[in-house]
Amino acid sequence: MKENRGSWGSNIGFILATAGSAVGLGNLWKFPYLVGKNGGGAFVIVYLFLVVLLGFSLMLAEMAIGRNGKSDAYGSYRKLNKKLGIAGFLGIFTCFVIFSYYSVIAGWIVKYVIEFIKGGIGGDVAAHFGNHISSPVAPIVYTAIVLLVTAFVVLKGVSGGIEKAGKIMMPALFISLIVITVRVLTLPGAMEGVKYYLTPDFSKINGQVILAALGQVFFSLSLGMGVMITYGSYLDKKPNIVKNSLLVTDLDTIIALIAGLAIIPATIAFGHEVTAGPGLIFITLPSVFAAMPLGSIFGTVFFILVLFAALTSTISLLEVVVAFVVDQAKIERKKATVLITVAVFILAILNSLSFGPLAGVTLFFGMNFFDFLCYLTDNLLLPIGGIMLCVGVGYVWKEADVVAEVTNGGTVKFRLVKVWLFVIRYIIPVVLVLILLQSIGVLKI
Ligand code: TRP
Repeated sequence: MKENRGSWGSNIGFILATAGSAVGLGNLWKFPYLVGKNGGGAFVIVYLFLVVLLGFSLMLAEMAIGRNGKSDAYGSYRKLNKKLGIAGFLGIFTCFVIFSYYSVIAGWIVKYVIEFIKGGIGGDVAAHFGNHISSPVAPIVYTAIVLLVTAFVVLKGVSGGIEKAGKIMMPALFISLIVITVRVLTLPGAMEGVKYYLTPDFSKINGQVILAALGQVFFSLSLGMGVMITYGSYLDKKPNIVKNSLLVTDLDTIIALIAGLAIIPATIAFGHEVTAGPGLIFITLPSVFAAMPLGSIFGTVFFILVLFAALTSTISLLEVVVAFVVDQAKIERKKATVLITVAVFILAILNSLSFGPLAGVTLFFGMNFFDFLCYLTDNLLLPIGGIMLCVGVGYVWKEADVVAEVTNGGTVKFRLVKVWLFVIRYIIPVVLVLILLQSIGVLKI
């Protein structure tokens, strides 16, 4: 079976695909609106601190488990200890759930790309957006398009599909993001926004801001759900995974920072509020593009780049589940991909309808289906996944073996290996347990 699992063609291909998983709507949609909602520069500082402390460490832990296990997330965890299989399974389940709502939002982006190609969105953008996401059929069709493209790439396998997609989409994304950012920063009035973005007002930092930043670190870096385990499992023993983790973490963070640098000043320069929340790129930005010279062209480029980012993420969300079914049930990749995509589509339909006909159906702890799934993943599944990851690497796996895996048997220099293990064993679990207690209402932050 092993020979059929697939592997990366090159280390750069691995980096681009992995960065592709991490860079997504989290960077281009969520990060800027969280910055706007949580006090500008203050949020940025807290986020950066947490990326350095937690992000890199967990990324490395996951890649190590995957490369050691040479199997999907479930199989790789089980290789450390049979009981840990549950951790892998939970991660795979989390990916499945995230995929079902992420593809709906990616579908809205497809719709926006088409609207901008047709010349942009004028008039009452909020009403336009509201009408689209609440209609019963159209958004489901766009979601289906996202699922089809994603499945098509995953069908083609690790190096022939996923790696190729990353190699094309990631550089395109990066270049367009730079072009947009330069355009925005040369707008009159942009500097005021830059100041808001870069000047931290420390009085704005509170428990909620820290919690939001922490959740965002997990979401943005795709941590705690077996993605980096799965992608790491297609690596051979040569690449330096310490360096790779650092690179992917850096790339993801840089792209989030640049996205903020484009979106926040653009919003402020045209006199809009940055505190709009989730509607920031869907409602505020189209008005900004409408007011900008050549705005429909810049708008088209912007939404295509967001779509690329979203697709490289949906590809990895699907791949985690497909790898599990291929490795554990020994089902052929093609069959597994089709089966899972159909299953996800059913959940995605319910998610899409949560913005329209099912919006009032609050059967799930007072939340509608979409809100419930977001809450479940962000507040429960991700911290639990993170805790299990720390337990696996910090306590179950033998220290000598962990160190051998991350240093390629001692041939790679990693001076901070002891610090890394300390963070994994003692710091991250404590932080995550606090988060969990707060999520279930035991603790009030
Ligand atoms: N990291 C992705 C983003 O920023 C979102 C994401 C969360 C994700 N979990 C994932 C992507 C798992 C792939 C796999 O948009």
